[in-house]
Amino acid sequence: MEIRINDLEHIREAAREFIAALGDSTVIALYGKMGAGKTTFVKAVCEELGVSDVITSPTFAIVNEYRSDTTDELIYHFDFYRIKKLDEVYDMGYEDYFYSGALCFIEWPELIEELLPDDALRVDIEEHDDGRVVKVRR
Ligand SMILES: Nc1ncnc2c1ncn2[C@@H]1O[C@H](COP(=O)(O)OP(=O)(O)OP(=O)(O)O)[C@@H](O)[C@H]1O
Ligand SMILES: [Mg+2]
Repeated sequence: MEIRINDLEHIREAAREFIAALGDSTVIALYGKMGAGKTTFVKAVCEELGVSDVITSPTFAIVNEYRSDTTDELIYHFDFYRIKKLDEVYDMGYEDYFYSGALCFIEWPELIEELLPDDALRVDIEEHDDGRVVKVRR
């Protein structure tokens, strides 16, 4: 499926459409170039899921943890851009997150491709002249 986002005013409805398409997937891998809009889309999806804390890019922390005010569930947001060795990912205990059943949003998943669960949902975010396109690979 494909979701078009022509401007930021429409990102929340795009996020709702995306959430409706999630099914049982909990690990969401977001592929896309620098500045494509990964963090912005994760933020919109998390807000739509009831997260009210400020969501910034977790570039320095590797993982940010949010909690939904509506469901009280935890959501994890990873950014592996600065990962240099997979050891760093093992050391942070990535399995405890990926296999926790909690929603995990992952930026720069290509850097940890071999650690992604088989059933991870892969999503491409593309920047076009007239907006962004979110493509869910199935
Ligand atoms: N759907 C959108 N419509 C318009 N502008 C957008 C959209 N999504 C993101 N942007 C803008 O693009 C810029 C980069 O977005 P963002 O930080 O989300 O990208 P990113 O893919 O997370 O980048 P990085 O790889 O550096 O983490 C921001 O200024 C943001 O406001
Ligand atoms: Mg980002």
